[in-house]
Amino acid sequence: MQILTNPKTLQAKCLEWRKAGLTIGLVPTMGFFHEGHLALMEKARPLCDKLIVSLFVNPTQFGENEDLDKYPHDFDGDKAKAQSMGTDLLFAPAPGDMYDNDHATWIDVPELGEHLCGAARPGHFRGVCTVVTKLFMLSHADVAVFGQKDWQQLAIIRRMVRDLNIPIRLVGHEIVREADGLALSSRNAYLTESERAAAPAIRQGLLKIAESVTNGERDAETIKELLRREYTTNLPDGRVDYIEVVDPDAITPVSEATRTVLVAVAVHLGKARLIDNILIEV
Ligand code: PAJ
Repeated sequence: MQILTNPKTLQAKCLEWRKAGLTIGLVPTMGFFHEGHLALMEKARPLCDKLIVSLFVNPTQFGENEDLDKYPHDFDGDKAKAQSMGTDLLFAPAPGDMYDNDHATWIDVPELGEHLCGAARPGHFRGVCTVVTKLFMLSHADVAVFGQKDWQQLAIIRRMVRDLNIPIRLVGHEIVREADGLALSSRNAYLTESERAAAPAIRQGLLKIAESVTNGERDAETIKELLRREYTTNLPDGRVDYIEVVDPDAITPVSEATRTVLVAVAVHLGKARLIDNILIEV
């Protein structure tokens, strides 16, 4: 596995591959790999000749009071894991490699970022869209794989790719979970033992309200209230950031679950902000 930090070198290498008729797959990440990241690599591997994994803790998608400085890292461990998944090239630039001091160009899809994490983290998706576009341009990738844990992120990137005619195929991967249902996240490393023990309640609450929708509950306010009460009872130390019932493509709130809806949550638990979601087909 080759490791590159220089964007221009990456771009030249990938152009060479494309000229040789090879297809390129990309898995963008911020590192500290867990089974969720590895599942994306596994999914991407057979879809391309050359698999690139990018590892870049992108400063422009973090807010001022967020965890940029504390974001967990384990470069040696990540290298070994990426290699074991058959990665051909690990791209691990430094912030200064990716952004010039006078960087001035931004990509934003504001309409899909008004709710959920977009509302809670102003500027977050502008940073995501900009860095992901840069990674697409640098890698000349034919296909890129993203996780559905960050459902809104994938919906925004899909819209961006469609609107800007970016020649890439996007593939989603279902949420990879611990045995007890907690969605895997690099940020789970922030949880204390007792917080970790309580955290599966996030998923359990989502399953419970999915059941009530299946049993006929349609009113979004009622669904949200049911979930809020679940968390008050079963996750008393959690501080709900948002609970929303939205259209899965437009990421806009719906008042009634008359079609397939996405129920998405973000909960602060100790030092971690955890997100999860469930698609409920009606
Ligand atoms: P990061 O949080 O490292 O996630 C990298 C990819 O792994 C994303 O596509 C994310 O949805 C996916 N992922 C994380 N946990 C997952 C899980 N439990 N199951 C399935 N997939 C999971 O998302 C980012 O980085 C950044 O915003 C990035 C796209 C790299 C842009 O900086």
